[in-house]
Amino acid sequence: KNKQVILGIETSCDETSVSVVVDGVTVLSNVISSQMEIHQAFGGVVPEVASRRHVERITLIIEQALLEANITKNQLTAIAVTQGPGLVGALLVGVTAAKALAYSVQIPLIPVHHIAGHIYANHLVSPLCFPLIALVVSGGHTELIFMKDHMNFERIGRTRDDAVGEAFDKVARLMNLPYPGGPHIDRLAAQGTPSYSLPRAWLEKESLDFSFSGLKSAVMQFIKQNERYSQKDLAASFQTAVLDVIVEKTFRAMAQKEVKNLVIAGGVAANSGLRTRLISRTKQENISLCIPPLELCTDNAAMIASAGYFLLKEEKKTDLELNAVANLQL
Ligand code: KG4
Ligand code: ZN
Repeated sequence: KNKQVILGIETSCDETSVSVVVDGVTVLSNVISSQMEIHQAFGGVVPEVASRRHVERITLIIEQALLEANITKNQLTAIAVTQGPGLVGALLVGVTAAKALAYSVQIPLIPVHHIAGHIYANHLVSPLCFPLIALVVSGGHTELIFMKDHMNFERIGRTRDDAVGEAFDKVARLMNLPYPGGPHIDRLAAQGTPSYSLPRAWLEKESLDFSFSGLKSAVMQFIKQNERYSQKDLAASFQTAVLDVIVEKTFRAMAQKEVKNLVIAGGVAANSGLRTRLISRTKQENISLCIPPLELCTDNAAMIASAGYFLLKEEKKTDLELNAVANLQL
């Protein structure tokens, strides 16, 4: 039978998550314990607080993931863990737990890049078809990645300043909306018209990079000068400015690399405006599009276990000296 049963661990930010996935596709369990409410009071994730909470939760979450998968740790083939990028103190909790577990059962330990994980969330929905472009949009990342094959990543676009989710959250804060602000802007934007003029950062002619800090400053200026602005219209104007650039550059990337498969990853993939625009344009241009369900778009360990399966195939395992790397390169 030779099934590869991989336990994934993800603790790079404010979610403690453990999952059991068979052969990179079948999710037996995906336990996600969010610290959102703890950090909400601070208006953002506090690294030290996040680490401490991971320490409290990790063992219980591992137990729960095994229980829900209805297996014991001795039935596992390997342990996959997020090595980075992320908050280093938070990552260390997952890495240490993964080492202890791999050591106790004497099975391979597989380090996984967090963004590779986000991309492989799509593989849990339907098998990845290559070549593909992955649009990764989250609170920490805005990247366009070209993949020729499994575990083969070429980053062709990135943000030069704020990540797109970060821009949503900062603008929401300027508009006095609660943290995290992305979903609130999304909801308001759907009820407004993009009638306020805001800048779009296209950068150099051929560039697939992004920049959102100028747009954020423009919103700040706008609010100072127009005290009685419409929240709905400002949300719509901001969201349209962001999406115009993201959608256009994604399709430029597809054309440049002559790719017909698009996959989306990260928390901002929940944005209804982004979904609508990508669905209609991929239809127009005969491109296949995969958008994972919400619980697989945001941070979770199933995506780490799925990526871990393909790394294990390539024998990309490590020894027990594995360390977390806050700015790990893909
Ligand atoms: O992937 P994620 O859960 O965590 C990171 O790894 O960053 O992404 C969280 C980000 C937050 O910035 C949040 O505001 C944003 O995703 N977000 C949204 C929406 N839902 C979540 N942004 C825009 N529209 C949404 N509907
Ligand atoms: Zn993430």
